[in-house]
Amino acid sequence: MNDLGGAPVAPVLAIDGPGGAGKGTISRLVADRLGWHLLDSGALYRLVALDAIQRGVALDSEPGLADLASRLEARFLSADGNSRVLLNGVDVTDAIRSEAAGDGASRVAALPAVRRALIERQRAFRRAPGLVADGRDMAAVIFPDAGLKVFLTASVEERARRRHKQLKDKGIDVSLSALSRDMVERDRRDSERSIAPLKPGDDARILDTTGMDIPRVVDVVLQWAAERGLTT
Ligand code: DC
Repeated sequence: MNDLGGAPVAPVLAIDGPGGAGKGTISRLVADRLGWHLLDSGALYRLVALDAIQRGVALDSEPGLADLASRLEARFLSADGNSRVLLNGVDVTDAIRSEAAGDGASRVAALPAVRRALIERQRAFRRAPGLVADGRDMAAVIFPDAGLKVFLTASVEERARRRHKQLKDKGIDVSLSALSRDMVERDRRDSERSIAPLKPGDDARILDTTGMDIPRVVDVVLQWAAERGLTT
């Protein structure tokens, strides 16, 4: 029940952490196992960056970007375990994963007006039977009442290696050292920004996934969710 005794509020499992920690993969698998909805909040910032690049809006123009963010024409489609993202009716599933979109996302995500413009859109993903929310400020800002808050992390070297493999599998060749450097720089930008900086809250459970395989990480998160009474 919510505070007013109205309809039950769907439970939220928040998974925050730095890029390359495996949040995307883990969040999707946990959502699948629970049969819950999934919010990939990073995709929203990537979409704003891509929309800006396509429309020629400067990546430091806060009012212009906030305006784009509030009118973002984005759809998340999911069928047969296959999910696609559309921007202005065009499939941009691969385009938002490019390093350019990722770098742009990190820039636009540092702008308070852009973050504000995306708050309600993110909260709208909360629907029964539950939501796994993947991002940086899911626990602290978007869903402060989440039933479980996980902060997923891994060493910079391991995160760079994982990202390198991901890109290589897609036929994209980038040097590991350049990726490491970018990752350190993006971490710095994400954790030093004044609004919603990336850091674990006091009520988050920290999971360092360095050296852990994916099924093991999923099991730990599901076990924590069960301990909190989020799963039946
Ligand atoms: O998780 P990701 O790599 O798709 O995120 C892209 C960028 O967006 C990253 O630099 C951090 C930022 N971001 C954010 O500030 N807040 C979120 N809730 C999700 C992502």
